[in-house]
Amino acid sequence: MTLLSFCVFLLCLPFYSSASTNDRPIIGVLAQDLRKPVENYTSYIAASYVKFLESAGARVVPVMINKTAEEYKLLFNSINGILYPGGSASIVSSGYQRAAKIFYEMAIEANKKGNYFPVWGTCLGFEQLTLLTTGRLLLTRTNTTAVALPLDFTDEAKDSRIFKGFPAELMEDLASEPLTDNSHKWSVSMLTYNTTEELKNFYKVLSTNTDGDTEFVSTMEAYDYPIYGTQWHPEKNAFEWKKPHYPHSPSAIKTTFYTADFFVNEAKKNRHRFESNEDESKALIYNYSPVYTASRSVFQQIYYF
Ligand SMILES: *[C@@H]1O[C@H](CO)[C@@H](O)[C@H](O)[C@H]1NC(C)=O
Ligand SMILES: *[C@@H]1O[C@H](CO)[C@@H](O)[C@H](O)[C@H]1NC(C)=O
Ligand SMILES: *[C@@H]1O[C@H](CO)[C@@H](O)[C@H](O)[C@H]1NC(C)=O
Ligand SMILES: *[C@@H]1O[C@H](CO)[C@@H](O)[C@H](O)[C@H]1NC(C)=O
Repeated sequence: MTLLSFCVFLLCLPFYSSASTNDRPIIGVLAQDLRKPVENYTSYIAASYVKFLESAGARVVPVMINKTAEEYKLLFNSINGILYPGGSASIVSSGYQRAAKIFYEMAIEANKKGNYFPVWGTCLGFEQLTLLTTGRLLLTRTNTTAVALPLDFTDEAKDSRIFKGFPAELMEDLASEPLTDNSHKWSVSMLTYNTTEELKNFYKVLSTNTDGDTEFVSTMEAYDYPIYGTQWHPEKNAFEWKKPHYPHSPSAIKTTFYTADFFVNEAKKNRHRFESNEDESKALIYNYSPVYTASRSVFQQIYYF
């Protein structure tokens, strides 16, 4: 019996995995405009976003700003998902905003046709998603520039796609300990969410937080699309060290990992691939080297482009 199950396991597993998931996912991470050029560089990606995805079994391609729509379409058809990082680029008009909009629209179209293409927005990326979905700037000032908070889960969190795979113990810690870094001065308040139909119909709120005065959305997932946003930073717990409030406890590190694991598994449902191995090699982030920047930035390491 044991031998039989062993054989069945061996025979079926490779077949099963190749048939059901793309176990070589490549995820785009969107670059963003540098406020002031550094040397000759005009855009950057904080390395923690790259490590976040790599730690859960994905490879990363940088999505450069200010490319043509044709170049973005080709890249869209080559990658399996995209992450919009945090930062301080304009979500109304910037290279970051323009690329985010083009990829968002392609993702909506693809998903409507049954081509699963996940999109993740962290912090600025979260705010960008709310603008892309509604066409409106919905932000409210909050006192949340440097604080770690527990998540106030809604009833919908437990059966959500994002949190479903989190261990029960981690969910308890997330609800009771300050495990999520907030580094933002703008938020989408619950009042705005409740009164903005386009937002309310599109996204389900999985957690909220408050700065003492204003309750705001901290985790959301789209009802009908694999589109996700956190106002907090899942990547910082494991990979950023600059600010004393960044959480690094065992549960904080698990938070980074389970969030990355979730999104990388979403990307495994997509089957896009580069036209050739050569095109793939040329696009990967491995062609660039991160710079150690902790002395002059909030990030440990940055990729400059
Ligand atoms: C910046 O670009 C100029 C002109 O192309 C070049 O001469 C210079 O070496 C570059 N500097 C750096 C640091 O790459
Ligand atoms: C990128 O495009 C934005 C406008 O979309 C522009 O403001 C910015 O200067 C461009 N950056 C570069 C490096 O060309
Ligand atoms: C902002 O929040 C911090 C705690 O995160 C608190 O110490 C500070 O007093 C608050 N500032 C204002 C203006 O409410
Ligand atoms: C938003 O709506 C929910 C559900 O109806 C309600 O519980 C909550 O109090 C509302 N919050 C605000 C700030 O309006």
